[in-house]
Amino acid sequence: MPTRISVFASGTGSNTRAILEFFQFNYDVEVSLIVTNRPDAGVIQVAEEWKVPYAIIGKSDLSDEELVLAVLEEYQVDVIILAGWLLLIPGYLVKEFKGRMLNIHPALLPKFGGKGMWGSYVHKAVHEANERESGITIHLVNEHYDEGAIWAQHKVALESSDTPESIENKVRSLELKHYPQEIKNFIESL
Ligand code: GRF
Repeated sequence: MPTRISVFASGTGSNTRAILEFFQFNYDVEVSLIVTNRPDAGVIQVAEEWKVPYAIIGKSDLSDEELVLAVLEEYQVDVIILAGWLLLIPGYLVKEFKGRMLNIHPALLPKFGGKGMWGSYVHKAVHEANERESGITIHLVNEHYDEGAIWAQHKVALESSDTPESIENKVRSLELKHYPQEIKNFIESL
């Protein structure tokens, strides 16, 4: 039986696409559902291209435990993968998927994390702090933004000539290169 994962994404879906490409020939892992909170999110196009079912679960729906767990049950989801998901995961979902939910953050936590630290805000902060390196953090999800136990980190050196945009590009390359493999490693560890 394959492990069924649901990818939660609020944005363009580049990580979701990389995950689908990585697992397309791997029969032990199946992306059975894509969840987004935004009806205009680019990730919906990725879901349609790959013919993966998707569900739109907005902020108010997310607080409806029965509704959300029923959707995840319907697609027999074993593991939840956050890939650019911006809403705080509610307690009931953290509890139901304890130890089976991963997130990717575009910086080296515990620095540059927390509420409001997403996308370009993160890279601006890294740039303003004159950091010599940045990277990605893949961590388990708990009730607090970016505070769950760290599963893996990958780093990239920064030059004094780097801008927030070039830092974002360097970090994005790390995400697309490493997140799918780390998801595979995580699932094999369960
Ligand atoms: C990524 O940079 C990820 O680290 C962050 O949100 C962005 C999502 O991008 N949490 P995409 O939707 O996968 O293109």
